[in-house]
Amino acid sequence: MATNTVIIGAQWGDEGKGKIIDVLAAEADVVVRYQGGGNAGHTVEVGAKRFVLHHIPCGILRPRKMCVIGNGVVVDPIALVQEIRDLESRGVWSEGRLWVSDRAHVVFPYHRALDESLEGSCGRERRIGTTKRGIGPSYGDKAMRCGLRVADLLEPDFAALYGERIAEKNRILKARGAEPFDAEDLIEKAKKAATFLRPFVADTVSMLNEAVAAGRTILFEGAQGTLLDIDFGTYPFVTSSNATVGGACTGTGLAPRHIGRVVGVVKAYTTRVGEGPFPTELVDETGQALGREGNEFGATTGRPRRCGWFDAVAARYSRMVNGLDWLAVTKLDVLDSFETVRICVAYQSGTERYETMPASSRILAECRPVYEDWPGWRASTRGVARYQDLPQRARDYVERLCELTGAPLGMLSVGPGRDNTLRIGV
Ligand code: IMP
Repeated sequence: MATNTVIIGAQWGDEGKGKIIDVLAAEADVVVRYQGGGNAGHTVEVGAKRFVLHHIPCGILRPRKMCVIGNGVVVDPIALVQEIRDLESRGVWSEGRLWVSDRAHVVFPYHRALDESLEGSCGRERRIGTTKRGIGPSYGDKAMRCGLRVADLLEPDFAALYGERIAEKNRILKARGAEPFDAEDLIEKAKKAATFLRPFVADTVSMLNEAVAAGRTILFEGAQGTLLDIDFGTYPFVTSSNATVGGACTGTGLAPRHIGRVVGVVKAYTTRVGEGPFPTELVDETGQALGREGNEFGATTGRPRRCGWFDAVAARYSRMVNGLDWLAVTKLDVLDSFETVRICVAYQSGTERYETMPASSRILAECRPVYEDWPGWRASTRGVARYQDLPQRARDYVERLCELTGAPLGMLSVGPGRDNTLRIGV
């Protein structure tokens, strides 16, 4: 029987969650995003078509699936309208099956401008390397209790509420030497987006709970990754939401008892975009080769991703924090041509050995990886249809990743298409 499943990025994001969600969405009735916002870029290849989704759950690419943008997401209404229209122009219809929580917080243009100005004004060592989508400032307003929610967009006094915020943010922007906004222009654009979005707005908390009560299956679509989580990640080099399993409850209004299983997605190696410590990073020809073979560019910003070997310390920590039931390992085929593949099993800093993630990013930045070397398989795994047909060395490598992480292998992806996902006992 299908069970309610949370999909979690178990590294620093960009693990290939879009593809795994797309496969599992076929067995679900409802797909819900619960945190993050337009910073996410979930890529799904359907035949010859390639889709990159930022706000809208990947389930939209499966006919008849209900899709929800939960209360924990921060929604940029103008970007969302564009995303809905772009999908429509490619034959994917959202009306009647996409719902946006009335409790979700809104990302406004001043959030983006503040994100940009904060990033621009700090030195290299303090810079986060954000996606500049206004995520941090919007979640900041939520925590400061001065944010506006999707429900507010539809209130008769929205223009007054928004006008007050614009005046306040303009003062901050001016003090930072950034351009202030024209209030009337912003209000007009927001109202236009709100009119478009009105039919999509709903009390998704009740809707989701009713769906569960009616026996419908929920797929929780995580964005970013465990090491970017605001509490469990490499703070302060993190995003501003809970990308870990707890976010699935706070970001939807569904209680923990409704979660049946938690699936962690890991790449067969590691990547990170933006700043912050990354113990297995390779700044040499091997790192460049991983980037080239894996086409490692951010789906939202186009920035080249930093690349390195698989970090089992980070994956083990993700397994612990999220209670992962099994792993989906992606992009194994990217390693096909390497003579040796390495797995980081611990960190070393001076005389100290770490088997789990230290809390301090300063300490993590000083950590050096302790590696285990595995012989490469040097054969193509691209498109192999059955797990047992993979080269023995490739299987040994994947099984070792899972063993060190402490979670069994459930899925393995050996190419970008829907058909390139092998299921192993799940
Ligand atoms: P923000 O979420 O835009 O504030 O960015 C904070 C950090 O999270 C930066 O290092 C970003 O590169 C990273 N980040 C945010 N969203 C994603 C994502 O979807 N994939 C990978 N990294 C992300």
